[in-house]
Amino acid sequence: MEAKKNNLEIEDFWEADLRARYPEIGEKEKEAFRDYDNPGRDTVEAFYKENHKKQTYEFVLSKEKEFLTFDKREMTLWEAVEYLNTLVDDSDPDIDLDQTQHLLQTGEAIRADGHPDWMVLTGFLHDLGKVLCLFGEEQWAVVGDTYPVGCAFSDKIVYPQYFKNNPDYDNPKYNTKYGVYEPNCGLRNVHMSWGHDEYLYHIMKDYLPEPALYIIRYHSFYAQHREEAYAHLMDEHDHEMFKWVKLFNPYDLYTKSPVKPDVDALKPLYEAMAAKYLPEKLRF
Ligand SMILES: [Fe+2]
Ligand SMILES: [Fe+2]
Repeated sequence: MEAKKNNLEIEDFWEADLRARYPEIGEKEKEAFRDYDNPGRDTVEAFYKENHKKQTYEFVLSKEKEFLTFDKREMTLWEAVEYLNTLVDDSDPDIDLDQTQHLLQTGEAIRADGHPDWMVLTGFLHDLGKVLCLFGEEQWAVVGDTYPVGCAFSDKIVYPQYFKNNPDYDNPKYNTKYGVYEPNCGLRNVHMSWGHDEYLYHIMKDYLPEPALYIIRYHSFYAQHREEAYAHLMDEHDHEMFKWVKLFNPYDLYTKSPVKPDVDALKPLYEAMAAKYLPEKLRF
């Protein structure tokens, strides 16, 4: 369990660091700082140092080839959620919400605001790509902010100084503003750093409405949805769809309430939404 425990710790640090970087405005701002005053800066920094060094264009292509065959496991949505939950065996239940609870809280917050059922379902499943951790992937290749590879890394990405250690940084094929891409080519033509977002997008792409797919694929792309650093690669359609990514982000980041949702009571509702949109078994 040691590796898994480390994965989870990194992930908690990552999310705490995100809340420190992007505190919720108004009342909850103080709360966010109080709870996450000391999110383990060194851990986060070391995490990004490794991530920025190793997420090369070649690495991303190799992971796409390895994982987009979906021959690892077949699971219903609920089985996948329970499988993901095995990640948290070592955590303290009094402090941490497990994965199911984070997913249900996100879904429930979206539902409480009256958004469409597919968005509620998206809130519930948006992090399922983290099962990559259970397939033996290291945390720097599963969680953390995502960004395009194959073109210059923006200095708006967190800890940009560590991209100097990335072999692509000095490669003239990949280190210009557009790199291997054309101006405003659309994000569908852009390879993103490898992680749970990209992986789950490919699992879901035939089943959910397009705004849901954008939410899944780009929810960790803070350099764009918060910092607007990659508009030069986006087309009109991307901008239209990013309204949904931005709408979703606060639900992901700020809906961690200490009140645990009643998993058994909510399960039928989420299973009904899954039955409406998804096949019985999902292929991972
Ligand atoms: Fe996520
Ligand atoms: Fe999340």
